[in-house]
Amino acid sequence: MKGIILAGGSGTRLHPMTLAASKQLLPVYDKPMIYYPLSTLMLAGIRDILVISTPEDLPQFRRLLGSGERLGVRFAYAEQPRPDGLAQAFLIGRDWIEGGPCALALGDNLIHADHLSTLLRAASHRPQGATVFAYQVRDPERYGVVSFDKTGRAVEIVEKPAAPQSNWAVVGLYFYDSQVSDIAASIRPSARGELEITDLNRVYLQQAALHVERLSRGCAWLDAGTPDSLLQAATFVQTIQSRTGMLVGSPEEVAFRMGFIDGDALREQARQLGKTDLGRALMELAESAAP
Ligand code: DAU
Repeated sequence: MKGIILAGGSGTRLHPMTLAASKQLLPVYDKPMIYYPLSTLMLAGIRDILVISTPEDLPQFRRLLGSGERLGVRFAYAEQPRPDGLAQAFLIGRDWIEGGPCALALGDNLIHADHLSTLLRAASHRPQGATVFAYQVRDPERYGVVSFDKTGRAVEIVEKPAAPQSNWAVVGLYFYDSQVSDIAASIRPSARGELEITDLNRVYLQQAALHVERLSRGCAWLDAGTPDSLLQAATFVQTIQSRTGMLVGSPEEVAFRMGFIDGDALREQARQLGKTDLGRALMELAESAAP
């Protein structure tokens, strides 16, 4: 399966921080924001990744991520001239997807959970339909919201409802089968002029092909689109890393644990990060795994 990271948009809720810099390159504690969704896709076993951003910001993503060789993955890049909606990713990426299945991760979403790799692998190996993740939130009206019947089956999915039927928000991480580009081509812009990911998901729901995985209380899902949520995300990462010594959202660590790179390559990554805590943690990981 291939994967897309959508890292465009204008980031207006983070002005003036995003007047001259891409939101998804802002730091979340010790890493650029895009490292978190990148790590999530890699944890799902995805090694072909298309980064989509604005024509102005795309060169910075290329500079940060390069070819992907150092992480044992392949990056491709594409421009989204205007923020015309999340589902447009599958039209921009259509030729690159080559009619296969594809995941989408939003560049400002951070997911952290103990058993995440198991959930992600199941989603990426599901041969048909789509998988989305739902998370209970206090303010569902800010998100896509999915509601369930008494048997737990998803029955409705609505974008930013004024009167939410549940408090289950749809997370910015989606797995689709090979129909995805055709379905994206069939949907029309919403009242706010965007190709909505929720409309695409609704097509799968109507086909009884939308698998909704409910994330438990033990999981953390954060987006980093406002000054408060950016600070909360940074504090979250700092708290987990300093308390447990485990890294959150390190693509180098994931590359090593997934077997995309070997210990020597990890050591080289650690060396390049120099005397940072991140560099030290990666070096320790490489040494502890050495035969
Ligand atoms: O975060 C999860 C939510 O993401 C879902 O629950 C919603 O169903 C989904 O529509 C989306 O809602 P948002 O209001 O958060 O979407 P937003 O317009 O903020 O876009 C999310 C990210 O994608 C943001 O980092 C900007 C980027 N983006 C957005 C659009 C519309 C693009 O790169 N291109 C775009 O065309």
